[in-house]
Amino acid sequence: MNQSPNRRLLLIDDTPSIHDDFRKILMPVVETNQALDAMESALFGDTTKARAPVFELHSAYGGEEGLQLLVTAMERKQPYALAFVDMRMPQGWDGAKTIEELWKVAPDLQVVICTAYSDYSWEDLLERLHAHDRLLILKKPFDNIEVQQMANTLANKWDMARRASLQTTHLEQLVEQRTQALQMEIDERKHLESQLVQSEKLASLGQLAAGVAHEINNPVGFISSNLSTLEGYFNQLQQMLDAYQRAEALVTPPEQSEQLKAMRLGLELDFLKEDIPVLIKESREGIGRVVQIVKDLKNFSRVDNEQTWQFANLQQGIDSTLNIVASELKYKADVVKHYGALPEIECLASQLNQVVMNLVINAAQAMGPERGTITISTGVDSENVWLEVADNGYGIAPQTLQKIFDPFFTTKPVGEGTGLGLSLSYGIVKKHRGDISVSSELGKGTTFRVVLPIRQTAA
Ligand SMILES: Nc1ncnc2c1ncn2[C@@H]1O[C@H](COP(=O)(O)OP(=O)(O)OP(=O)(O)O)[C@@H](O)[C@H]1O
Ligand SMILES: [Mg+2]
Repeated sequence: MNQSPNRRLLLIDDTPSIHDDFRKILMPVVETNQALDAMESALFGDTTKARAPVFELHSAYGGEEGLQLLVTAMERKQPYALAFVDMRMPQGWDGAKTIEELWKVAPDLQVVICTAYSDYSWEDLLERLHAHDRLLILKKPFDNIEVQQMANTLANKWDMARRASLQTTHLEQLVEQRTQALQMEIDERKHLESQLVQSEKLASLGQLAAGVAHEINNPVGFISSNLSTLEGYFNQLQQMLDAYQRAEALVTPPEQSEQLKAMRLGLELDFLKEDIPVLIKESREGIGRVVQIVKDLKNFSRVDNEQTWQFANLQQGIDSTLNIVASELKYKADVVKHYGALPEIECLASQLNQVVMNLVINAAQAMGPERGTITISTGVDSENVWLEVADNGYGIAPQTLQKIFDPFFTTKPVGEGTGLGLSLSYGIVKKHRGDISVSSELGKGTTFRVVLPIRQTAA
């Protein structure tokens, strides 16, 4: 912003003698006597003489030529501060037209219009040029000092306007930068807040889960073991009942035998014998589910004392997990694998398997009546590996999307989903300092992407 003041002037007039006059007025030859100057500075030190401002005057003898000079000057980034323009130039453009053209190229150019007569009324001219603040009128014959003062004042005015405009631009840039920085801060904060909310939910759920799991574990344990015992006992009872039934006809007296038979039919003993094992089986399955939920809950809240961080092969983990869930997938989807070569990653391998299992089972559960495809891809991206589980199932509605990582959020029927799969997975991925994200389109399918650092530096 500390450029030297602009003292470049343009004179457009078709009368050559006017140019000589202007030159004399604005560019007086300063008499210099080098010998005298040298003596002066030897006597008084290096003194800076106050000099009259030096103008650089360029001449054009018609409007078109003037415009050409201006265009060239602008291209060279050496703009004029001020133009003196003759009003009446019969050969080409008149002053008004010339000024219009000049301002198209350099709107900030200060202009003095010089004239002896007036072809326009000044009001009309000012009106036509829309420029009360850039245009002055100099009537011929003019006074030398008047020309000098105009040149000085208007060149200074041009400089000030340029400085103001540069400052405004600079300020606007600063405001723009600051606004951007603030916006980024706001976005970042929102992101952190939502993460905080998520991790708070997880933490409080974790405490709850640890307590509940602990309380439930014991009764579940003895119910489960009692059911097994009960099943065994019932088998024995059944053998005994069968034996009794075979002996039924031999019982004497015959009325007693009839009585036994009537009782057997009344109690629907055959049905009971069939139904009791089914009830026991269902109860055992139910209890098995409870055991699984408790296990999930414990996993969820676990501080992970038993597990250790180690370098493991993610692909092996995926494959063994796929084996475990094979029966769940069998009738629902084909699995396609696109594995990229992966380095071993530092992780809690069994927990990552659990993430994969949740994602794959969710994908299978998202299939409609038709058989679908689950595509599992992996790859490396600088310091991270990534894993994607994509399905062509029914997709997730946009308004549901932000809730799917919430603990206990499920859209599945009671008994089928607990809504813990994804929140568990989220917790596990975060523990690995990784990231899990989802993109989905209703009716098209869903893709989950997990990104995990290869190393847990300073973890
Ligand atoms: N691949 C998917 N396609 C469609 N919806 C999905 C998919 N994965 C998750 N969802 C939606 O997100 C919800 C939450 O998933 P999450 O795995 O946490 O629980 P869940 O599958 O319902 O129950 P759980 O996993 O505990 O058995 C699901 O109920 C379902 O609505
Ligand atoms: Mg699930």
